[in-house]
Amino acid sequence: MSGKLPLQFADQVVLPVIVAPMFLVSSPEMVIESCKAGIIGSFPLLNARTVVILDDWMKRITDELSQVRTNEPKRRVAPWAVNLIVHRTNKRYKEDLELIKKYQPPIVITSLGDPSPVVGIIHEYGGLVFSDVSNLDHARKAAKRGVDGLILVCNGAGGHAGTINPLAFIGSVKKFWDGITILAGCISNGQDILASEVLGADLAYMGTRFIAASESFASREYQNMLIESTLEDLIYTDTFSGVNANYLAPSIRKAGLDPDQLQKKEGVDFSQLNQSEAKAWKDIWSAGQGVGTITGVLPVAEVVKELQREYDQAVSSLLEKRSK
Ligand SMILES: Cc1cc2nc3c(=O)[nH]c(=O)nc-3n(C[C@H](O)[C@H](O)[C@H](O)COP(=O)(O)O)c2cc1C
Repeated sequence: MSGKLPLQFADQVVLPVIVAPMFLVSSPEMVIESCKAGIIGSFPLLNARTVVILDDWMKRITDELSQVRTNEPKRRVAPWAVNLIVHRTNKRYKEDLELIKKYQPPIVITSLGDPSPVVGIIHEYGGLVFSDVSNLDHARKAAKRGVDGLILVCNGAGGHAGTINPLAFIGSVKKFWDGITILAGCISNGQDILASEVLGADLAYMGTRFIAASESFASREYQNMLIESTLEDLIYTDTFSGVNANYLAPSIRKAGLDPDQLQKKEGVDFSQLNQSEAKAWKDIWSAGQGVGTITGVLPVAEVVKELQREYDQAVSSLLEKRSK
């Protein structure tokens, strides 16, 4: 575990992993089960349709995790995180920020905009701010705005993926960034987690692998499509939200569209609050290029056990190779 992470984190996790926030997919149960299994759970605040529902979710997560910590003081229970869209079109921004102040999630992940207005508020209660970036310009800007961590969203990621190769991205960012570094994009198994550490990441950010968790909000149909799909079934297009993202072509066909005849969408407001985008993400399903590793629907705790086995195996075989 990297020395960059606050000391208390190292004792709270079993693997350096964040279950990435996923629109319409991450559930409060997924967050609770991830943290109980020893990896950082997160969710987009907008997955709760109203602030009343959000208040209830944040209370449940706080209460359940603190109960586990009290009942099993030796258990590694990871911190939890929320994803706040800091773009001006987020109409719930102020109300959601109030709930962040009330429940004080240890990590706040900001996306789609300038994180500076929230950095002070989160630091005041001792929380950390991680900002997701998909190019060097955004990484440089976020680094100057006082965030604690940069999430480098590389090519092949689920959702709004970047286009930069992870080796090149992390190498270039490390030239000007000395804070917590989180790598994202196609990290799908234990070997990949170790590989991201070898590249210099402090944490691996995993989305797609967890869409098929039993606790996720994804429909059984979506999960079955993930099990049947490979990276050849993905399409990288800006048609549905105005920003390029990876989608499962079979879900596009299921919605009555021809994936080979998609039109470019001009001048679209890319906020995930946007009604048409919400509809698109409901009917047209996203996944990253790591989709081929999904072979079944499993509870989060089982996925984490599998990741631990793979990680340990990868460490042993690396050591064995080096000793020869
Ligand atoms: C279905 C889906 C929904 C997503 N929604 C969000 C979101 O609401 N906010 C966000 O910051 N990232 C979102 N992402 C991106 C993930 O947080 C993460 O960057 C990505 O999944 C990592 O790549 P991977 O899927 O290859 O592991 C989404 C990804 C997927 C697959």
